[in-house]
Amino acid sequence: MSEIVQDYIEDYIRGLIPLGSPEIEDFRIRAENEEIPIIHKEVQKHIEMLIHANKIQSVLEVGTAVGYSSSIFALAMGPQGQVDTIERSLKMIVQADENISALGLKKQINILIGDAQEKVEELTKTYDMIFLDGAKGHYIHLLDHCLRCLKPGGMLVSDNVLFKGMIASDDLVVRRKITIVKRMRKYLEVISNHPQLITSVLPLGDGLAVSWKKDELDVNGENP
Ligand SMILES: C[S@@+](CC[C@H](N)C(=O)[O-])C[C@H]1O[C@@H](n2cnc3c(N)ncnc32)[C@H](O)[C@@H]1O
Repeated sequence: MSEIVQDYIEDYIRGLIPLGSPEIEDFRIRAENEEIPIIHKEVQKHIEMLIHANKIQSVLEVGTAVGYSSSIFALAMGPQGQVDTIERSLKMIVQADENISALGLKKQINILIGDAQEKVEELTKTYDMIFLDGAKGHYIHLLDHCLRCLKPGGMLVSDNVLFKGMIASDDLVVRRKITIVKRMRKYLEVISNHPQLITSVLPLGDGLAVSWKKDELDVNGENP
């Protein structure tokens, strides 16, 4: 369980979510059995809703792992949707490539191999949505480039932002995680007060921050 909301609430919410296709259910079960940290089911459903509601057709993801969330995004967008996903672990990349091929999604998902910081700095494209799900202590360092690569009106979605409750309460902080906690608190303060963003932090999964990038008129204060 996520330690963010009480188990009975989380179980109830998950129980409301319809099953996906047999291939996707099998993919989730395999990843969970191998203890790969894929997105929580309720986070998946929230992002699928964002993709449909905002007609998102391009996603940049940081943290591919075995390709579960990138496959979910590609399926939610439909055949025209494109995902660029960054991963540095070769072991993960091999598995992600197999999983993405098995689902017939190779044309939609492009794995960018390397460190997130370097890869994000190199990007020249812009995206409708950016999903941060890599190392939690690095979100703050990726933010400027993510904002550069996010279209006006686009969504920045950051996972695990409450990190087992540690971000909200010093009583829960484990000593060896102090640096991550400090950086994540800083990240949440910055995105919550950023002039280009409207941010909502949700106690969903391990904590999900959903930020909307304002368009030019909103930033200049000309729109109400
Ligand atoms: C939580 S998992 C991603 C799960 C995936 N988004 C999903 O829900 O199916 C995080 C992944 O980020 C990768 N990662 C962590 N730090 C990274 C970095 N600096 N650059 C690239 N990948 C990184 C890890 O190797 C790991 O596979």
